[in-house]
Amino acid sequence: MKFFIDTANLDEIREAYDLGVLDGVTTNPSLMAKEGISGDSNVMAHYKAICDIVDDNVSAEVIATDFEGMVREGKELAKIDDKIVVKIPMIKEGIKAIKYFHSEGIRTNCTLVFSAGQAILAAKAGASFLSPFIGRLDDISFDGLDLIEQIAHIYQNYDFETQILAASLRHTMHLVKCAEIGADVVTCPLKVITGLLNHPLTDKGLAQFLADHAKVNKG
Ligand code: E4P
Repeated sequence: MKFFIDTANLDEIREAYDLGVLDGVTTNPSLMAKEGISGDSNVMAHYKAICDIVDDNVSAEVIATDFEGMVREGKELAKIDDKIVVKIPMIKEGIKAIKYFHSEGIRTNCTLVFSAGQAILAAKAGASFLSPFIGRLDDISFDGLDLIEQIAHIYQNYDFETQILAASLRHTMHLVKCAEIGADVVTCPLKVITGLLNHPLTDKGLAQFLADHAKVNKG
């Protein structure tokens, strides 16, 4: 299972990378805006800075919604670094663009996926990654994890190469359940990754070990 961090914040990316378990980064226009990154050259430079921190898999999203625009922007993004994965929204023109990039050997991440039908279409077009947003489904009382399970089952039936990248994770149990289901990748905020560390019995046990050691090793 791969871990991606869902942020455009360089400090958080470095912190996750330093932990030694990070396989990539996903960004989106909202996350870039949150960091105050605007203007084409600044956006490109920021993606380059992210690529310089991690080993691979940096999703950079196109803004265009027409085929020609997505292809133009995607090619520019792909030129930044071999680590770039072009992120394309799940719309009709996006499917055409995914098919185009697949034929050009450029990796894509199909984003804003909320149904199994959309997942089938993206896999048929040759998406490298598929991003179902489980937290946003949960937010409106649909079970996001059920969707991951359904897609995993469908992809297994046909040996689709598209990797399931469970996105919009809100908490550690989302991540654990995605692992149980067999999602290929999860992308989430830093706090979800570091949240995996926490257990009160670990803290209690360590305090006890250190106290016992100190008792017999005074001075
Ligand atoms: C995925 O690629 C998206 O950037 C992200 O996971 C969306 O998460 P949100 O629903 O928390 O905004």
